[in-house]
Parts: sequence; C-alpha cells; structure tokens
Amino acid sequence: MELVIFSALEGLPAPLEQYRDLAILAPSRLDQVARLLDGPQAPDALYLDDTRGASLPELWQAITAARRIGVRVLVNFSGPARGALNDALGAGIPAIAERDPAAVAAWIGAQLGLRHSAGSSRLAVVAVGAAKGGIGKTFATCVLAEGARRRGLRVLVWDSDISNPGLVPAFRVPSSAPSYLHLIQRGPAHWNATGIQPFIYQPEHTRGTATGWGPIDFLIGSHAVARAENDVRLPDWQGFYQGVSALEGYDLLLVDTPPDYLRRPYATHVLLSGGTVVLPAPPGARERMGVGHLLEHLSEHAPERLEHCALLFMEPERGVTATVGEVAALFARRYPRVPTLGMLPRAPRLASLADEHDGYISMLDIGPHSPFAAAVHRAVDALCARLGISPALPMPRSSILARLRSRISEARPGQPIAQAT
Ligand SMILES: Nc1ncnc2c1ncn2[C@@H]1O[C@H](COP(=O)(O)OP(=O)(O)O)[C@@H](O)[C@H]1O
Ligand SMILES: [Mg+2]
Repeated sequence: MELVIFSALEGLPAPLEQYRDLAILAPSRLDQVARLLDGPQAPDALYLDDTRGASLPELWQAITAARRIGVRVLVNFSGPARGALNDALGAGIPAIAERDPAAVAAWIGAQLGLRHSAGSSRLAVVAVGAAKGGIGKTFATCVLAEGARRRGLRVLVWDSDISNPGLVPAFRVPSSAPSYLHLIQRGPAHWNATGIQPFIYQPEHTRGTATGWGPIDFLIGSHAVARAENDVRLPDWQGFYQGVSALEGYDLLLVDTPPDYLRRPYATHVLLSGGTVVLPAPPGARERMGVGHLLEHLSEHAPERLEHCALLFMEPERGVTATVGEVAALFARRYPRVPTLGMLPRAPRLASLADEHDGYISMLDIGPHSPFAAAVHRAVDALCARLGISPALPMPRSSILARLRSRISEARPGQPIAQAT
C-alpha cells in the first residue's frame, strides 16, 4: 500500500516504517501532494495534519481532490485546524486530534488495517538523560542494563555521550572494540542492520547465560575516533538512531546521552520517536536544577509524551541536606504527569569494589542481596511495566537471612560482601 503523509510531526515516519507492505511518501509541500494525486499512479491513502502551516482551505482542497479519485483520507487536526475536526468527522473522514507521533502512527495503522513486519517485536528504546554531567547517567545505564538482563531481556547499550564515554571504563571495553563513529562517517547507506551488526561489541563477560539471562551488547563511540572533525551532526545521529532502533534480536535499547541537550537533543528525539526517557535525579540543588531544565525542555518539545519520562531518584552522598522525599514531592507537584521508578540507595562500597575488581563485575553480583540490588530490581520492574514488557524471568528476591547477612558484611569494611547463597 502507498501512503502519502503530509506532516511535520517529528518522529512520525519511524514507527510507520515498522508496518509491513507500506510505502511512505512524505512531501513537504501541498502542491507536491496535489501532483502525486494527479499522477498516473495515485496513492492508496493520504494522511494530513495541520503541523506544516498550510491554511485550512488549502488542506480541504487536497482532501477534496483525494476523495474525488477514491484515495482514502485520514486527518489529524490538533493545532490551528482543530475547529474543523467536527466538519471532517461529519463528512465521514476518519479524524483525530493527537500530537503524540507514536499514537498517531498506531491510529493510522489501525485505520488502514496494517500489520507490523513479521518477527518485529518492537525494540523498546530508553534514553537516559540529564542536563548536567556527573549526575549518574552512566551509572544508571549500567545498573538498568544489568538488572534488565537478569530478567531475561536482551540489552543493547548505545554510548551516545562520546565526549565523556563513561561506559568504556565501567564495562572495561578494550580499545580494540569497534567504534560506530567509523560507520557514521561511511554515510546513511550503511546505517541499517547489515551495516551496524559488525560494529556491535559483544563482551565475553556480559554474554547471555544458560540460566536465561540476556546479553548486554554495546555500540561504543571510541574516544580515539571522537575528535572534533568526527563530530556527529544531529541529522546524522537521528539517521543512525533510525537504523539502530530497527535492529532485531534485542528487547531493550539503552541510550546513554550527552548533557548538552540543546545542541544534542538525543533524549528529546527518542521521546518524540515513541521511546522513553529516564532521568536520574539526585536531590542536591544543582542536580535537581539540571533535572528541571531537561524536564522543561521536554515539556516544551514533547508535551504529549511527558508520561513517557520517568524520574529515577538517587540517594545523595552523605552530608547533603536535601532529601529524596522532599525533592520527589517537589517534582510530583511541578510535573504531576512524570512518574518515578523509585530510588537507588547510595552504595559506595559496592561501587568501589566493582571499580577495583580485576576485570568487569557488576555491583549486583557483588551484593546480590543488598538494599541497592533490591532497589535496582524494583526500578527495572517498574520500567518494564511502563514499557509494556513482560520479562521471561521473575524479579530476583532474597531471603530475609540473605539480606541480613549482606547488611552485616556491608557494615564491616575490609571484608568481602557476601556472595549469592
Ligand atoms: N547509588 C550510588 N552508589 C554509589 N555511587 C554512585 C551512586 N550513584 C552514582 N554514583 C557515582 O556517581 C558518579 C556518577 O557519575 P556518572 O554516572 O559517570 O555520571 P554522568 O554519566 O551523568 O556524567 C559515578 O562515579 C558513580 O559511581
Ligand atoms: Mg556519563
């Protein structure tokens, strides 16, 4: 089926491309739409909305022309043409007023009776975002990935903060690992599954296990290649994102994003394309201001998708007087539509043991029965629920005895923390 879309809704084409047997034409001007309708092979359907700034009479003209030759018409009047919604419905034209591109794509699919491509259980995309460095983005990415694989999810982590690639030391990625920056330089023709596959790094220590844990694989933008002349332009990042988010064989794509969200609005793009944004939120004054800035930005650019953001509160370091409880209440009042995934307690000892370990080890393996691990599992569970994923493996739980032992050994510095029993 051939569908013409006339829309400036960012993030609409990507979910539409997931439909089987659908060819999309997306002209940017109404006279181009008219020409397609006049052409020898008229399209099967026309979707148009009022986001391109065309006047209502012009839109009606296109609608009338399409209906005259039997082209199915779908309209979405959520902006200036909203007043004409009832006229459209009255004329028997399927019409909605919707700004969320993922919801619009789903509606178009339902109206046209489209089906998703075979085998594409859509990859869930989660960007971890912040308007400030050192807030715990990379930390949250690591533990969410480790928590998710323990539920049987196949995880791909994309290091998109190439100016500060914290994932490389965290997962002990060797310098020999391939860098996707090379692939970006090769151009858009290579940004598809076949092109991307060889650039995915699959470490031995995060392979899938016989017990059903999923793997954590990586797209790394190596520091060695991250020079000024190799800077990734936004359209290139967006094009590459389209290729990565269409990859098969993963359940969850976690994107570690850079803090310069105005110049590199990666989290915004993920949100607009139907993904989710997790915001690590330590309660300190500067940190919460950073979280606030990003939330303001997202409220402005993706107002219909705020429910798809989620706060992950981080317990502050000792001595910080602001508490998570107070700050959570503050955010709940100011952004009532933004849910939370709970709070990660501070676990400096687990973090340090993992850092000092000879080779990679997850904090969840060092302290499997720690309050920290329990909080990570709860956050992952909450995230899966929001994403509509039902993981193959249940949430790991610890016996009271194991939790007690873990607490005692955590209180005794110098001793290794109790391993799984
Ligand atoms: N719950 C926690 N327990 C222990 N250390 C933490 C915790 N949360 C964050 N950290 C530490 O705080 C720092 C956060 O840095 P990072 O995740 O690299 O920030 P960003 O990626 O936002 O720049 C890391 O050194 C991490 O080990
Ligand atoms: Mg980082």
